[in-house]
Amino acid sequence: MSIGVLTAGGDCPGLNAAIRGVVARATAAGADVVGIEAGWQRLMGGTSRRLTRDDVRGILGRGGTILGTSRIDPYVHGDGLESLRNSLDIYEIETVVVIGGDGSLRTAARLQSDGLPVVGVPKTIDNDIGGTDVSLGFHTAVQIVVDAIDRLTTTAESHNRVMVVEVMGRTAGWIALAAGMAGGAEAILVPEVETDYADLGRRIKARHEEGHDYSIVVVAEGAPGPSGEVSSAGVDQFGFSRIGGVCNAVAGAIEGVTGFEARPVILGYLQRGGSPTAFDRILGTRLGIKAAELALEGATGMMTALRGDQIVAVDLEDAVSQPRLLDPDRYEDAAWFLA
Ligand code: F6P
Repeated sequence: MSIGVLTAGGDCPGLNAAIRGVVARATAAGADVVGIEAGWQRLMGGTSRRLTRDDVRGILGRGGTILGTSRIDPYVHGDGLESLRNSLDIYEIETVVVIGGDGSLRTAARLQSDGLPVVGVPKTIDNDIGGTDVSLGFHTAVQIVVDAIDRLTTTAESHNRVMVVEVMGRTAGWIALAAGMAGGAEAILVPEVETDYADLGRRIKARHEEGHDYSIVVVAEGAPGPSGEVSSAGVDQFGFSRIGGVCNAVAGAIEGVTGFEARPVILGYLQRGGSPTAFDRILGTRLGIKAAELALEGATGMMTALRGDQIVAVDLEDAVSQPRLLDPDRYEDAAWFLA
């Protein structure tokens, strides 16, 4: 039997751990694994290669993905399953393990219903995939942001400034909330909850007037800015919309209300780069092993997931039917520390 494996969408730390888990488990059972390069792109007419156990040695702690990735989508940029048929036949691939974010896993679910057996593995630093307690890459991204906040705090203190730190998260504020809490941010702004910017400015002013004359504000890139709009950064080369830059408007609004210096900082791709934490290495390995087992059993149309401390299989279509957003109550408890 031949199992294809690909990584699609934005990269994140831990992808190589998942690829290694798939290859180690599947080859131990005697299956062949075909590594499909650059997401769906190569499957739509390009190169793939067989992956042996030796090919995945030494990659556990390496960031990025040895297979490469892209945002090419067979339904947007091709004829859906038809565009993949040739490569699937050449490499005799029976099932494809898709290590992807919400978009790639939605595509995978559609391919499954069109007749291609798939197994999903949830990865995205945004942590917004349903069906799993956490997605691969989130833990590392949060640690990177916390390290950045720690550094920004000392310079904010030295200059009596407000630092407005923009983190990734298009529709969900998971990184902002987790990193903001762990970094001791004074305020956290997320896409799910409306921000009263006049009130934010007043609270910052009151805090500084009490003698704590610096503040850290964490804002998710998809949070609406002071004009009520999400900041657009145009479209990418595949025609998908990009967002970013809200921290500039937030810093401007805070300066306007408080009169304090406010500096915007966009952490951007730093959050996706570099070595995964121990948590993500273990999670990637476990999700990959489980995905290989599902493929070997023919249990396709499923996604591997972390529930509590167990790795389980959940229905892929269900998992991608709704984005996993913050619970507003949990957010309210955590988001204001302006004292
Ligand atoms: O993978 C999710 C994400 O990190 C988003 O938060 C962000 O908007 C997007 O990817 C940007 O990725 P790219 O520029 O690679 O498309």
